[in-house]
Amino acid sequence: MQTERTKSDLDWKNLPFGYTKTDYNIRYYYQDGKWSAGELSSEETIPIHIAAPGLHYGQQAFEGLKVFETVDKRIVAFRPEENARRMKVSCERICIPELPMGLFMEAVEKVVATNTKYIPPYGTGASLYVRPVIYGAGARVGLGPASEYVFIVFATPVGPYYKGGFKPVKALVVEQFDRAAPNGVGDCKVGGNYAAGLRGDEYAKKLGFPVPLYLDPKEKKYVDEFGTSNFIAIKGNTYLTPESSSILPSITNKSLMDIAVLLGMDVEKRPIAIDEVEHFDEVGAVGTAAVVSPVCSIHYRDKIFTFCDPDKAGPVLTRLYEYLTKLQTGEIKDTFGWLHEIVVK
Ligand code: PLP
Ligand code: COI
Repeated sequence: MQTERTKSDLDWKNLPFGYTKTDYNIRYYYQDGKWSAGELSSEETIPIHIAAPGLHYGQQAFEGLKVFETVDKRIVAFRPEENARRMKVSCERICIPELPMGLFMEAVEKVVATNTKYIPPYGTGASLYVRPVIYGAGARVGLGPASEYVFIVFATPVGPYYKGGFKPVKALVVEQFDRAAPNGVGDCKVGGNYAAGLRGDEYAKKLGFPVPLYLDPKEKKYVDEFGTSNFIAIKGNTYLTPESSSILPSITNKSLMDIAVLLGMDVEKRPIAIDEVEHFDEVGAVGTAAVVSPVCSIHYRDKIFTFCDPDKAGPVLTRLYEYLTKLQTGEIKDTFGWLHEIVVK
């Protein structure tokens, strides 16, 4: 149990998933093969070399994780070690030198500890979103990895990604724009995937669909993932999710699969043909930002697959959502050891 802390006077219950300034971010610099000590900063901007490969060639990777205040007032980060591991994989793929796990964890802990007044109070449904980002900084004009790098972690309090929180959303299968390529970087959290997905995202939104769904870029036959979240489906007592080399390995999805097993469900991770989707009972979009967002319908060419009422999510996704969110706020015992407590002196 920790003592009461001063909180900012934000409207916690109505926070959007957006940027709010907090007091500190932390910066590390890689030069001559070594990472510097972390420097806390209250600046919101960074000086960047005009010839930085992070700017020109997209040599950049990022992460996203959430921090919660629990029912007994502890401060906990949800599985940050998994984000550190995934960032390592992303960095390796785009030739960024290894970022030590310990450095990643220290950065997350320091940013959280220096911004406790922005951690949304328990019961508001909001959280502190932590965004680590790394980019090639040293000047280089010919194509090649940078000689210098910058790693920054900032934090910002956020509410739900989709309006209304746990409320069903409509998805559109976008086929004319891909977010990832076969043998590309779809399985890494790098900015280029999101730039590639922007047109598809905007296209879907203009037609009234908050969520684009992408198919596998090679055959356009199998479900890959949503623009910013993984695809999951429920059929009877089975939890299904695609096996694909071009999707981001979601930490939320991985956690939900374990929860599903704990709740007595079968879990199948395998290629899922788009033609199979109409037979599913429930479909969800899952991720750190999206949490579990129920999908009420998927529009695919001239077909509409319907899974639930636009106002009411299905029972299994509701159960999974509740289990995950209650575990994150300490209302359900964390038997998995997923909560990383950050003790602030
Ligand atoms: N897929 C994409 C493309 C994402 O951007 C995200 C968000 O991080 C996810 C899936 C979900 O991953 P995670 O649950 O680790 O946040
Ligand atoms: C996350 O869920 O953490 C993400 O990074 C998605 C982002 C595009 C908002």
